[in-house]
Amino acid sequence: MCQDNFRDKQGAEIISNVEIADNVYRMVIRQEEIAVNAKAGQFINVYCKAESRILPRPISICEVDRDKGLVTIVYMIVGMGTKEFSDLDSGDRIEVLGPLGNGFKIKDCDESIIVGGGVGAPPLLELVKNLPGKKKVFLGFKSGEFLTKEFEKYAEVHVATDDGSIGEKGNVVELMEKVGAKGSMIYSCGPKPMLAAVKDMAERLEVDAQISLEERMGCGIGACVGCICKIKADNELGYIHKKVCKDGPVFDAKEVMF
Ligand SMILES: Cc1cc2nc3c(=O)[nH]c(=O)nc-3n(C[C@H](O)[C@H](O)[C@H](O)COP(=O)(O)OP(=O)(O)OC[C@H]3O[C@@H](n4cnc5c(N)ncnc54)[C@H](O)[C@@H]3O)c2cc1C
Ligand code: FES
Repeated sequence: MCQDNFRDKQGAEIISNVEIADNVYRMVIRQEEIAVNAKAGQFINVYCKAESRILPRPISICEVDRDKGLVTIVYMIVGMGTKEFSDLDSGDRIEVLGPLGNGFKIKDCDESIIVGGGVGAPPLLELVKNLPGKKKVFLGFKSGEFLTKEFEKYAEVHVATDDGSIGEKGNVVELMEKVGAKGSMIYSCGPKPMLAAVKDMAERLEVDAQISLEERMGCGIGACVGCICKIKADNELGYIHKKVCKDGPVFDAKEVMF
């Protein structure tokens, strides 16, 4: 399934593409192969139509509906590629490739902690839907929020914003400390400083953590070595390089060197 480096792109029909927060869009595409095979934490390469933008844009799978063959992604406009995606309408066609990457390993725990920051939140929604037991979700945003209501259907949700516009003012890891987050596994996706703080917290609480790394990507399929990260190893250097797109994006927090 889905891990060959040189698979063909897949065509998809855009079912909807709507702005759900400032510069943040939810796009639903019909792509049966991806919907059927996707695991929470995997991503797709989304291709631009403009010839000047050859490299695909990696975007996490937010939700899948296997019966209807639908895949949802949630993306923020940060540059020309994501701006191009935001101009697409329902009925348009788009090229994608996926599912890519390894995804989260779902552990059978009584209680899990889920921590998302900004556009790191989307892949955690499909995860939360599939996790057994009690789930506490902590979401951090610069200002405002998105997807909180969707998470609330499946879990207890706590929100922190940098500017205090929604939920608690401050960062999401401070909020976790304040609420006294407890669980036997932490799942997290978001910016690097947040993931580093989650790793520290997991070590202090002696809880396992899976963190989904984000690196700038070229090919997204393990071919260009453009997305390496340092993973602890028992060798002279104390680490080896791994590819975030192919070996990750999800890693055991204990192994990741920031
Ligand atoms: C595994 C993974 C999952 C992601 N999931 C999401 C998501 O669910 N929602 C979301 O909004 N964003 C997500 N991102 C970030 C998203 O890929 C970038 O915001 C996007 O590629 C920017 O493209 P652009 O053309 O608009 O910006 P530009 O800055 O113009 O992009 C220029 C080039 O750099 C690459 N690039 C720029 N920023 C990033 C980045 N942060 N990560 C990887 N490549 C980058 C682009 O793909 C492109 O090739 C994810 C990144 C990774 C690695
Ligand atoms: S982006 Fe090319 S190897 Fe990861």
